[in-house]
Amino acid sequence: MSALPNIVDLDTQLATQSPQEIIRYAVESFDNIAISFSGAEDVVLIDMAAKIGKRFQVFSLDTGRLHAETYQFIETIRKHYSIDIDVVMPEASKVEQLVKAKGLFSFYEDDHKECCGIRKIAPLRKQLLTVDAWITGQRRDQSPGTRADVPVIQDDKAFARPNESLTKFNPLANWTSKQVWDYIRENNVPYNALHDQGFVSIGCEPCTRPTGPGQHEREGRWWWEEATKKECGLHAVNIAK
Ligand code: ADX
Ligand code: SF4
Repeated sequence: MSALPNIVDLDTQLATQSPQEIIRYAVESFDNIAISFSGAEDVVLIDMAAKIGKRFQVFSLDTGRLHAETYQFIETIRKHYSIDIDVVMPEASKVEQLVKAKGLFSFYEDDHKECCGIRKIAPLRKQLLTVDAWITGQRRDQSPGTRADVPVIQDDKAFARPNESLTKFNPLANWTSKQVWDYIRENNVPYNALHDQGFVSIGCEPCTRPTGPGQHEREGRWWWEEATKKECGLHAVNIAK
C-alpha cells in the first residue's frame, strides 16, 4: 500500500486507540514499513511490533556520537528480539569536511543544525527513500513547544519521495512518559542503562545530559540553546506547518 485515503479521518479514528492497535494498523497496512529506533525508551515500539508477528524493519541513525551504552543497548535489542537493525551511518566525506573546518564540537559554538544535518537528517532522508511508511516514538509530552500537536498518523511531506507519499506513525503520541515506563516494567522490556544514571531523553553523547527532579526531559538536550530550537529536523513535519 502506498497511500492512505484520508489521513485526517484516519488520525481521528486512530487517536482513540492504544499504541498496540495503532502499530497493528500500521504493520498490517504497509509491507514496507520501518521503526525509527533511537536506542531510548522508544524500544516499546519494537516490543509491541514484535508481539504482532507481522514483518517490520528497524533502523537506527548512528551519528558516530552516541553513548557507548546506547551502542550496547542497540545490540542487546538486536539479540533479544532476533531482529535485523539497519545501523545507518552519515556520509564519511561530509563528516570529515565539517570536522576539518570547524572541529569536533562545532555545535557548541554555532548551533546543532549543521552537525545534525550531516549526521542525522541526510542519513534519515536516504533511509526513508526505501520505505512507504515509518514509525517513531514521538510523544506530545516530550516537548511542549514543538510536539504538543503531534498526531498519531501524518502525511510526511518533509521526507516523501518526489510525487509519492510517505506515511508517518507516532503510536505513542498520546502516551505519557509514565505510561511508557509502566509498559517497560510490566513487560520486562530491556532498557538503555543510561536511564538509571539520570538520563531521560537520550540523543548524542555531547548533546545530552541527565535531568534532575523538576526539570523537563527536553532540558537535557542541547541545553545551551533556546527551548524553541530543540528539534534537530528528524521531525521537520512538526515545525514545517
Ligand atoms: S530528536 O529529534 O530530538 O533527536 P527524540 O530523541 O526526541 O528525537 O526521539 C523521537 C523519535 O525520533 C524516536 O522515538 C525515534 O523514533 C526517532 N529518533 C530519534 N533519534 C533517532 C536515531 N538516532 N535513530 C533513529 N531514530 C531516531
Ligand atoms: Fe551532532 Fe549533537 Fe546533532 Fe548529534 S545531536 S548530530 S552530535 S549536533
